[in-house]
Amino acid sequence: MTNTDVLLRSFEERYGRKTERVYFAPGRVNMIGEHTDYNGGRVFPCALSFGTSLAVAANDSGLLRFASLNMPETRETGIGDQWHPIEGKSWVNYALGAIAQAAKKGVRPAQGYDLLYSGDVPIGAGLSSSAALEVVTAFAFNELCGSGFCRTEIAQMAQAAEHEYAGVQCGIMDQFASAQGRQGHAMYLDCSTLDCEWVPLDLTGMQIVLANTRSPHKLSSGVYNERVAQCRQAVEDIRKAFDIQHLAELTAEQFAEAEKLISDETVRRRARHVVSEAERTKQAVEALKAGNIGLFGRLMNASHASLRDDYEVTGRELDAMAEAAWAEEGVAGSRMTGGGFGGCTVSIVREDAVEEFKKNVGAAYKKRTGLTAEFYVAQAGDGVRRLM
Ligand code: GLA
Repeated sequence: MTNTDVLLRSFEERYGRKTERVYFAPGRVNMIGEHTDYNGGRVFPCALSFGTSLAVAANDSGLLRFASLNMPETRETGIGDQWHPIEGKSWVNYALGAIAQAAKKGVRPAQGYDLLYSGDVPIGAGLSSSAALEVVTAFAFNELCGSGFCRTEIAQMAQAAEHEYAGVQCGIMDQFASAQGRQGHAMYLDCSTLDCEWVPLDLTGMQIVLANTRSPHKLSSGVYNERVAQCRQAVEDIRKAFDIQHLAELTAEQFAEAEKLISDETVRRRARHVVSEAERTKQAVEALKAGNIGLFGRLMNASHASLRDDYEVTGRELDAMAEAAWAEEGVAGSRMTGGGFGGCTVSIVREDAVEEFKKNVGAAYKKRTGLTAEFYVAQAGDGVRRLM
């Protein structure tokens, strides 16, 4: 039975009637350009083939009823209610937050709906299971309500849901990737203008391998928001002499001058990461277009080192995993992906070395951390869509 078959059957068991529509939104992996999105920089993510599905059917009770095959918690709310974030860590916030954003724009469902979610993005792996949940909801309600928002607006509404309902001041990367992915392509997205170029992810005989540290992604909203605040602080300091809106506007040369204006040493290192990562991202995309996977991989390695030393968001498990990958033959490059502190690394591995890679990296990682890694070979997939 496929995942969709299970979802359809479970829907009928739970709600006593048939699903009318099924939607799907993917998770994402970012190849390079980390912690640059909320700094007006560029990112280079691709959508994955796994994600979150949503089965839905209208009801005549005027209620939105939320349930998931992954989480025991269920909720219901009236279509005319005032919606507020649910206190504590409720998965429903991501879905409700997305619907609430449409309501803010004047679009409310005219009738109730029964909703059942099912995800196969490993939760806490830094592969944007939450963005997939937000985007699939925003996309589905956009169709159900006939509101005509475009995919970029859907991504923006999903991002606002994360800000207001999950308390994370995230950038646009995850939601954009989930909304706008294209099979076989990565998205070279300028986060200050939302201009996007879809670049074929042509890895000539190499595969993208994700390695899950299984150390739950401890990037709490607190640590993430602290980094966001430090970057804002750096911009404020630098604006005394440079007319900038965002850190990623600075070239390396300008930064050599500008960094003297940043009084706090930690804030200076955070800013240095953002500026150097912006430069690496640009070089990496050029390298990929030129078919230079070797250079692309070395830039990935340098990205990890900068996230470890200057941005300090890697942590012991991600460092152990990346270092184990760097020691392997047949690896072009490896780095943490996503917010950091646990979650996954992304590596580019020669096709015929993938099995060896899993074996050796898994063993080295276990030796250093005592944890059992999990590996997935990733395919760049399409963005959110209706499945039936
Ligand atoms: C999380 C956020 C993104 C981005 C990454 C780091 O995934 O949701 O907006 O900032 O971290 O690049």
